[in-house]
Amino acid sequence: MALTRLLARPQARASDSGPAMARVIAFANQKGGVAKTTTTLNLGVALVEQGLRVLAVDLDPQGNLTMSQGWNPDEIDRSMFDVLVHRLPITEIVRSNELDVAVSSIDLAGAELALASMIGRERALEKALLPVRENYDFVLIDTPPSLGLLTINALVASDGVIVPVQCEYLSLRGLVQLENTLSMIRENLNPNVGIQGILATMFDRRLLHSREAVEILKENFGDLVLNTKIRKTVRYAEAPVKGQSIFKYDVSGEAAGMYRDLAKEVLDGASARQHA
Ligand SMILES: Nc1ncnc2c1ncn2[C@@H]1O[C@H](COP(=O)(O)OP(=O)(O)O)[C@@H](O)[C@H]1O
Ligand SMILES: [Mg+2]
Repeated sequence: MALTRLLARPQARASDSGPAMARVIAFANQKGGVAKTTTTLNLGVALVEQGLRVLAVDLDPQGNLTMSQGWNPDEIDRSMFDVLVHRLPITEIVRSNELDVAVSSIDLAGAELALASMIGRERALEKALLPVRENYDFVLIDTPPSLGLLTINALVASDGVIVPVQCEYLSLRGLVQLENTLSMIRENLNPNVGIQGILATMFDRRLLHSREAVEILKENFGDLVLNTKIRKTVRYAEAPVKGQSIFKYDVSGEAAGMYRDLAKEVLDGASARQHA
C-alpha cells in the first residue's frame, strides 16, 4: 500500500500572554502494547529530572500507569471517573510519587457509557484540566487502546499527540485511522491538535525488520518520526513491577538514557514552537 504524506502539521498556537500554561500531550495509539504507558511514565519522570512540573493523567481503565507508580487501581475510591463524570476537581485525585498522577480505577471502564449521554461529553477532560494547567509545565495523558470517548477526551484536551509505534508489529492502517480521527477533532472540537511526533518503540537494531519499520515510517510520515528511538530491553518491563519508573529502577542505565533523549527532543521541539 503506497501511502502519500497525508499528515499536515497544524499551525502552532500563538503563545498566549499571561501565566505559563502546561503543554498538554496525549500518548495515543489504538493498538495495545506499543509502549503508551511506558512512555507517559518515563518521559514524565525524565522531565521531572529536568526540574519541570509534570502531571501524568491515567485515562486507561486498566490503570497500568497508576500501578506503575505502586498504587493498586482496585483499592482506589475516587479516580478520573469521578473527575470526568461527577466533575470532582482533579486535584482531589492526584497522588504524588516520582511525579504527580491523576489516578485511574476500574470504575473508569464505565466512564464512556456515563459520558455518552452528557452534554459536552468530549470536553470533560479539557474542562477538568483548566484549573491546574498553570501549576504544571507538562500534562501527559495516557490513553486506552481504543479510539473511544476517553481517547477523544484526551485528544480534545491536548496541544499535541505523541504516537508510540512498536517496530515489531507496524500498523500503518492504525496510524491512518488515528489521523482520520484527529482530522475530525480538528474540524469540530480542537483546531490546534495534531501529531507532534511518532515514536519508534521496542526497536532492535540487530533486526532488519526493525530497521525497515523505521524506514517505512519515515517514508510515510517524514519528519514527524522522532529521532529518538526506544530500543527493546527487558528493563522497561521490570521497573513497573516494582512500582517504579526506569529512572528509579536503574537511573544510570541505557533504558533511562533513551527517555532522557526523548525528553530533550520534546523540550527542543517545545522551545522551537515558542520562537516560531
Ligand atoms: N522498549 C521496550 N522494550 C521492551 N519492552 C517494553 C518496552 N516498552 C514497553 N515494554 C513492555 O511492553 C509491554 C507493553 O507496554 P505498555 O507501555 O504497557 O504499552 P501500552 O500502554 O501501549 O499498552 C509492557 O509490559 C512494557 O513493560
Ligand atoms: Mg497502557
